[in-house]
Amino acid sequence: MTAVPPRSPWPAVAERAAAADRIYEGDPDRFEGPPSRFSDWAYPLIRSRFHLGQILELGSGPGRDARRLANVGYVVTAVDHSATAIARGRAAADTPPQLRFRRTDALTALRDTLTDSLDVVYAHAVYMMLPDDELRAVFEQVRRVLHPGGLHLWAVRSTTDPIAGQGELVAPDVWRRTPGTPPYRYFRRESIDALTALGFERVATEFPSGLHFWYIADRRP
Ligand SMILES: C[S@@+](CC[C@H](N)C(=O)[O-])C[C@H]1O[C@@H](n2cnc3c(N)ncnc32)[C@H](O)[C@@H]1O
Repeated sequence: MTAVPPRSPWPAVAERAAAADRIYEGDPDRFEGPPSRFSDWAYPLIRSRFHLGQILELGSGPGRDARRLANVGYVVTAVDHSATAIARGRAAADTPPQLRFRRTDALTALRDTLTDSLDVVYAHAVYMMLPDDELRAVFEQVRRVLHPGGLHLWAVRSTTDPIAGQGELVAPDVWRRTPGTPPYRYFRRESIDALTALGFERVATEFPSGLHFWYIADRRP
């Protein structure tokens, strides 16, 4: 008898994108406003290595961090699977010419990117929303698209977050807080280290007090 593989708790990518659209449509100010605290941490790491360069931001939302990087001269492609978020990013009056928005999912954007072509891949608060196989494939693709010495800057929620553990446990460190919505993954030190071990060297890790986020900078050897 053939074993039936367990059903993934994650909906397909189109369904996740539709769920993101509903959230953006319900909140016109979502991820608008000043750049994130993660970008305050990440920006000096980028600047100290690449004075100018090519950056891919995954899960950019309307682009508050992408805009910050493009405004100081980086050429930035900001990708999000939410059509609503990307439309807002494109419509913003202060979008500099070297910032391009693209509506697609993270893995497709990476697969469409040339090998060794990027200085930085940047992902703030996105990888918590990816199923296991997609998360692993994203890391493999990030390694491919970065040139040696390129930076992978990523921020993910920690298992210390008081919200972790609320709702239905659907996989280790993954909970669905509200029935009918996509689940959410939280990270512990071992899980971030295991992802870095997929082909990167750790440059820096920060666990900012009170935020329940991991800030991570990895380098492609
Ligand atoms: C928590 S928000 C953060 C937005 C942005 N990084 C910021 O800090 O302003 C996560 C974003 O990731 C997007 N996202 C989630 N999964 C994605 C995927 N597989 N491909 C592309 N975007 C994705 C969501 O639509 C959402 O805009």
